[in-house]
Amino acid sequence: MAEKILLVDDDLDTLRLVGLMLQRQGYQIRAASDGPQALAMVESEIPDLVLLDIMMPDMDGYEVARRLRANPRVADVPIIMFTAKAQIDDKVMCFEVGADDYLTKPIQPRELIAHMKAVLSRVQKRQTASDTAAETPLERGYMIGVISVRGGLGVSTVALNLGIALLQEQKKDVIVTDFRPGQGTIGLELGYLRSDGLNRLLQRKPTEITARDIESEIITHPSGVKLLLSSHYPGDARYLSAVANFEAMAVHLVRMAHYIVLDLGPGLSPINEKIINICDEIIVVVEPVPQTLIQSKALLDELTAKGIGEGRISVVLVNRIRSGVQLSWSQVQEQLGKNVSVIFTPAPELAYQASAHNLPLILQQPDSLTSQQFVKLAEKVALRNR
Ligand SMILES: Nc1ncnc2c1ncn2[C@@H]1O[C@H](COP(=O)(O)OP(=O)(O)O)[C@@H](O)[C@H]1O
Ligand SMILES: [Mg+2]
Repeated sequence: MAEKILLVDDDLDTLRLVGLMLQRQGYQIRAASDGPQALAMVESEIPDLVLLDIMMPDMDGYEVARRLRANPRVADVPIIMFTAKAQIDDKVMCFEVGADDYLTKPIQPRELIAHMKAVLSRVQKRQTASDTAAETPLERGYMIGVISVRGGLGVSTVALNLGIALLQEQKKDVIVTDFRPGQGTIGLELGYLRSDGLNRLLQRKPTEITARDIESEIITHPSGVKLLLSSHYPGDARYLSAVANFEAMAVHLVRMAHYIVLDLGPGLSPINEKIINICDEIIVVVEPVPQTLIQSKALLDELTAKGIGEGRISVVLVNRIRSGVQLSWSQVQEQLGKNVSVIFTPAPELAYQASAHNLPLILQQPDSLTSQQFVKLAEKVALRNR
């Protein structure tokens, strides 16, 4: 396929001449006549190489290069800069802002092509090497799916805080992801107003999703936990049918960290039906309310019927409110016919404060009872992973 080159120059004659010459060589050319336009074009379609003039009004080439390098999505795109004056300072500056190479104007076509080929082949080699590294990691991580019978029981809270507890206690790398297109809440809770990393992966053909693609959509929270987040825009629920994409992602994710915690949300949706088979452990979140427990018991039975063995299922009880009319721990176990591995006591004030500060509960108040309960859950998960 023809390599896509973005040509950036405020001089229209240069754009036209160099553009035509490169087109004749078989490259696919797009042109921008100023910095902001170039940045927008890179965002809309990532080129294989940027040819960047330095002297431009408003935003010079150095600034364009700096901004490209600062944007994780496009930071790897190779850049060759055109310097008008062959000053040493200019050349040094080119490398300081992250350019891969520079050329002095006026440019000889043969020289330009030779430099472009060299840069493109270096990048290709690098990419092949890192693809192989990303695709063949050493071992399989431990994947935990967190699920419930309906919304509002605490699934997202458990998934995120368990992830952070695993990172802090086990000192292992952790990815937390919500497989909830159009219904993601983890991003919002943490104050990310745009969390749509999953969307771009859901738009691809499932067979074309690589570990590298997933890696480039993952963001790192200040706690160190890695996040792959669903959008919260209700319309994106159209991706709920992209079951094969979720499967492909899960298969890669399981090899991308020591622990991978999935917020699966409520119910055995078509996505969850597939993903539970890839998970090493399923945590079912319940509340001490009779009707919810009847439904939760049904979920546990269905999981067992689908071949998820007893040893792979655990139950956590989240008490969100203090109430005398709720069932006790032992009543819950009796109703479910299964042990509850951790109980979370009501912490409405902490939940409110954490949400208001865009912090996970466990970081809002690390010495709270709730935090200790998450540490206990993390320890139990780690024990199973032995
Ligand atoms: N132990 C707790 N005590 C009080 N409120 C809690 C507790 N755990 C979670 N919550 C709150 O319950 C609400 C629902 O939790 P969330 O994790 O979003 O549920 P789900 O993902 O199952 O819909 C949130 O407002 C959360 O802050
Ligand atoms: Mg949720």
